[in-house]
Amino acid sequence: MRTEPRGTAPEPTRHIVIEPSILYFGTPVVLLSTENDDGTFNLAPISSAWALGQTVVLGLGRDGQTARNLGRRPDLVINLPAPDQWQAVERLAPLTGRDPVPATKAVGCRFEPDKFGAAGLCESPSEVVRPPRVAECPIQLEARAERVQPDVSGDFVIAETVVRKVHVDPRIVVPGTDHVDPAAWSPLIYNFRHYFGLGPELGHTYRSQTPRRPRHSVATSVA
Ligand SMILES: Cc1cc2nc3c(=O)[nH]c(=O)nc-3n(C[C@H](O)[C@H](O)[C@H](O)COP(=O)(O)O)c2cc1C
Repeated sequence: MRTEPRGTAPEPTRHIVIEPSILYFGTPVVLLSTENDDGTFNLAPISSAWALGQTVVLGLGRDGQTARNLGRRPDLVINLPAPDQWQAVERLAPLTGRDPVPATKAVGCRFEPDKFGAAGLCESPSEVVRPPRVAECPIQLEARAERVQPDVSGDFVIAETVVRKVHVDPRIVVPGTDHVDPAAWSPLIYNFRHYFGLGPELGHTYRSQTPRRPRHSVATSVA
């Protein structure tokens, strides 16, 4: 049995061991809208979000208003901003919907009951859940948290949410299909606490079912 790769082995990279305080290695930012106890709505950015079929798994600070809301009222909207919306996201960064502000929140965090207003974003009514969508976000997923439980550290909760309705800006949909055009859409990426968009496409997996269309006909990107 072969144990060595073909060709000349490259000079091994001399990795070094470091102790980073965070491991945010580049995941999409989502804005979660949830319902507060008094019937108003909270909006919070998170980057610990990933999809598995129609399930989207979220990692939330245990003491935040979003985790509290989802533990009590499971409806939410997972809104995906585009890269050019990073400043609206950043306006939400030092805010919490929780009053009083928990001691575990980052220094400088303050209570804000009107997160949509503070971010300069508009509410758009949802169809199957109570919290509104963020009108400006190109992708909006109406969903329901089916399981909310503590993570292994006890500092966070893991919410397993099931998407019930998908709303997409038509400019990022391949016309006449149910496919998001990966060439027209870019998520906003949170990369070690800095914001990025995607670079040019490198290729696609053998399982891609997105119809290919001539590059000149791709709609202007909303990203
Ligand atoms: C880009 C970005 C990504 C974030 N990612 C997460 C995350 O994945 N999980 C989390 O709990 N908080 C995350 N935060 C911090 C929350 O947004 C912050 O704790 C906020 O106060 C939560 O609001 P809430 O208490 O009203 O729910 C992120 C913040 C920013 C700006």
